[in-house]
Amino acid sequence: MAFSMDKAMLVFEVFLRKITVAMSKKKRRLSKVRVGIIGLGGMGSAHANAIFSGKIPGCELSAVSDQDGSKAANFPGVSFFEDGGALITSGEVDAVVIATPHYAHTTLGIAALKAGLHVLVEKPISVHKADAEKLLAAHTDREQIFGAMFNVRPDPCYQKVRELVRGGELGKIRRVNWIVTTWFRTEAYYASGGWRATWKGEGGGVLLNQCPHNLDLYQWIFGMPSKVRGFCQFGRYHNIEVEDDVTAYFEYPDGSTAVFITSTGESPGTNRLEVTGEQGRLTLENGVLRYLRNEIPTEKYSKTTADRFGVIPCWDVSIPIPPSTESGHISILKNFTDAILHGKPLLAPAHEGIRSVELGNAILYSSLTEKTVSLPLDGRAYERKLNELIKNSKFKKKMTKTKAGAEDFSKSFAMTSK
Ligand SMILES: NC(=O)c1ccc[n+]([C@@H]2O[C@H](COP(=O)([O-])OP(=O)(O)OC[C@H]3O[C@@H](n4cnc5c(N)ncnc54)[C@H](O)[C@@H]3O)[C@@H](O)[C@H]2O)c1
Repeated sequence: MAFSMDKAMLVFEVFLRKITVAMSKKKRRLSKVRVGIIGLGGMGSAHANAIFSGKIPGCELSAVSDQDGSKAANFPGVSFFEDGGALITSGEVDAVVIATPHYAHTTLGIAALKAGLHVLVEKPISVHKADAEKLLAAHTDREQIFGAMFNVRPDPCYQKVRELVRGGELGKIRRVNWIVTTWFRTEAYYASGGWRATWKGEGGGVLLNQCPHNLDLYQWIFGMPSKVRGFCQFGRYHNIEVEDDVTAYFEYPDGSTAVFITSTGESPGTNRLEVTGEQGRLTLENGVLRYLRNEIPTEKYSKTTADRFGVIPCWDVSIPIPPSTESGHISILKNFTDAILHGKPLLAPAHEGIRSVELGNAILYSSLTEKTVSLPLDGRAYERKLNELIKNSKFKKKMTKTKAGAEDFSKSFAMTSK
């Protein structure tokens, strides 16, 4: 009898616990989103300041977290937690923005999703594909908004390129060239954080820190290639162990190809995206979109003209671009809030963030193995490779202290179409 009483109590307790979890997961209808920012470095502080200063309607800064306790004073009246996990379970927030070094995006992201919070994660959503899969698998409740900070997606120039390419204006795409070397970084930048430009702390270099934006735009506009060949140079320009110079070749099943070039070691840099399709050539450089539109599609002309050295006449089409009225970060924060409060679709859902991770991983994997990589990438194989790099690293990071607040951090995300 005593045994069955205990058992009944146990069953009742389990039942109660399940109900409590279900109730806590059931989203309250919110009139304001209480946001917590985890990581108050350059980027997290900018997000926190935007919310704190009232730039994001419907949003209030309720809590902040940083391992560095001295940052508690930066947001007076806002709850502070040294441990990001403690902020997540505090009950003081409905949503979190994760702006920590990269590996913690996965662990904190999973913890926040499991706690029933809405989540906006900085790029890259994870360091490698296997981690990204784990993170996305934790997003089981579709009522929870899970976005990624791809703040260049709102740029009207890229929006227009996407519309033209995906809407079929250029016809079948033959070739894409994207040279984006406007990511120049100094030695002082790499020396400013122990996690930066190490396999263990950052998980890579330009492909993991700066280029997630470009790789995201690339896949968002052109889709994923089927084959990747990467050529990376590691520490070519800086005293770092990870890649700071990259040339990659992509191939699609229909034969179209792309070349993607990036570097943090060149100045002045170039940001030129060139798309050649059946119907003409589109270029985006310095914020100017130019379209040379063939009067006759390339293949049709080639196959029908009797002129051996014929050139297809084309029109120089000027494409008006609406001016951007605010920074991409603000747009994404507003969109995240609107998605929570009003069910607006996300401009950059987190589940799309796995593709830029996969592309970056594939370029590195191809370069490290000196082989062409077929997609989908074997995420476990890449994770093993990365773990080998971490294990065999002999690199000793030299750090220099930079004066807090002495620099204009906004210069670090000057990545727009301009
Ligand atoms: N979207 C953009 O334009 C953009 C620009 C710059 C950086 N970023 C991204 O933002 C993230 C942070 O970069 P950053 O340049 O601000 O780095 P940072 O080194 O300046 O700041 C990171 C901060 O996180 C804190 N931190 C580390 N682990 C923590 C934890 N577990 N809990 C709480 N705090 C923790 C550190 O103390 C530090 O203050 C990275 O993912 C980076 O790629 C995005």
